[in-house]
Amino acid sequence: MREITLTQIFEHPIAQKYLKRSGVAHAVAVSYHAFRLAVQHQVNPDLATKAALLHDIGHYEWYTDGKWDYEKYKKNDIHAIKGAERAHKLLIRLGENPQAAKEIALAILLHTDSYLPDGELHQRPLQKVVRLADEADEEPGGNHHYREMDDQLALKKIQELDEKVAEFLNTEPFRQLG
Ligand SMILES: [Fe+2]
Repeated sequence: MREITLTQIFEHPIAQKYLKRSGVAHAVAVSYHAFRLAVQHQVNPDLATKAALLHDIGHYEWYTDGKWDYEKYKKNDIHAIKGAERAHKLLIRLGENPQAAKEIALAILLHTDSYLPDGELHQRPLQKVVRLADEADEEPGGNHHYREMDDQLALKKIQELDEKVAEFLNTEPFRQLG
């Protein structure tokens, strides 16, 4: 049972604000990759797509003299920590099941090891799916954050993904998972 949809999350003003900062087109693309990979790796596509949609909402803009400063970003970035916390707050506010909210937040927290001291991360399948989905849409120089997507098209794609997730949750393979 899904308590809330991707569309509800996507349309919330807080999600809109942070998704626009890190790139709506990237978030939509990663959500689609996450759906495909979740089915492939037999993890819950509802959790995977929600984590994927929100995985980068913790990004902060590291600029020096109006230009993106990669060094500064590398040194100071905690977007996975910030994003996990923001996503959890938003999901609970929207009425998500608390256990699902925790799983999604954890998948965001652990979708990258970029902020960890030793860079060694042992990921559970859901967390791995979100990382692989993110990597599938990565472009050199972080260009995936700047790709543009029309608001209406983004909404339509998220609504279509909601239908795919709902449809899949009704199929036999998922019942076996649960
Ligand atoms: Fe990303």
